[in-house]
Amino acid sequence: MLDHDKGVNLGVAPVTYGQGERPPRGDYASAREDYTCEQNWSAYTAQDHDLYRRLYERQAAQLDGLACNEFIEAVRHLGAPERIPRFDELSETLYQKTRWEVVAVPGLIPEEAFFGLLAKRKFPVTGWLRKPEEFDYIVEPDVFHDLFGHVPLLFNPIFADYMQAYGAGGLKASRLDACELLARLYWYTVEFGLINTPNGIRAYGAGILSSAGELRYSVRSQEPSRVGFDLQRIMRTRYKIDSYQATYFVIESFDELFEATSPDFTPIYKAVRQQPEIEAGAVVSSERLYIAA
Ligand code: PHE
Ligand code: CO
Repeated sequence: MLDHDKGVNLGVAPVTYGQGERPPRGDYASAREDYTCEQNWSAYTAQDHDLYRRLYERQAAQLDGLACNEFIEAVRHLGAPERIPRFDELSETLYQKTRWEVVAVPGLIPEEAFFGLLAKRKFPVTGWLRKPEEFDYIVEPDVFHDLFGHVPLLFNPIFADYMQAYGAGGLKASRLDACELLARLYWYTVEFGLINTPNGIRAYGAGILSSAGELRYSVRSQEPSRVGFDLQRIMRTRYKIDSYQATYFVIESFDELFEATSPDFTPIYKAVRQQPEIEAGAVVSSERLYIAA
């Protein structure tokens, strides 16, 4: 147990995804029962802050014309790019705007813990930063992805409410054994969502906004399909975790996203289970496609 931990600490089991060959990078032994931990800000090195700044500046330089305005306007709330933000300071600003907070976690956490935090308007952010050799690509979310990708849109009141509803919906999906279907909704909206605007298609998904290459690809490339948001279509669609997406789903507004996901999913899960899955890149005839500018 580390001295910066307050209160009783039983430690929690680490979480690994995929083949499990990689050891978990975070310190799960010092996490609380809800998987949150101290950010331990003073442990970041000058090299960490410098790498964060380089990641931040690379992304910030390409937001114009590719990221949605809501994201661009809110990114300043992260504070100066020179330093990894202090989660407690950021939470103060965020709480005032949308009653959300940012909490530190050691890395990936179990689904139920993740849903539980979102339902309480606490967004879990990984404490550690990638290594310099992972500048272009990282397989697990780190502090840069979690903060830069996810936190700006939590300043948007509707998106903030969507995230809380997603958390509550996740707790329900766990009871209905439907987490896999619900995870596709997260993937194709929160991580890889596109939004149609008067100026053209823009990105709002965190996986896109924190990626050096996929930001431009997702908005501009002629390769992927861009399909109008359709809840059941999304729940049926597999996704790629090791390459750019083959299909993106486009919302017209955050209101549309919130409204379309507010009905009870219980009968929707049932309906989706009766239909075949759709491969990541497949295009279903008769669907509404957006053309990149
Ligand atoms: N309406 C969903 C349900 O009843 C909850 C939810 C809302 C899930 C928003 C995801 C996003 O399960
Ligand atoms: Co993410």
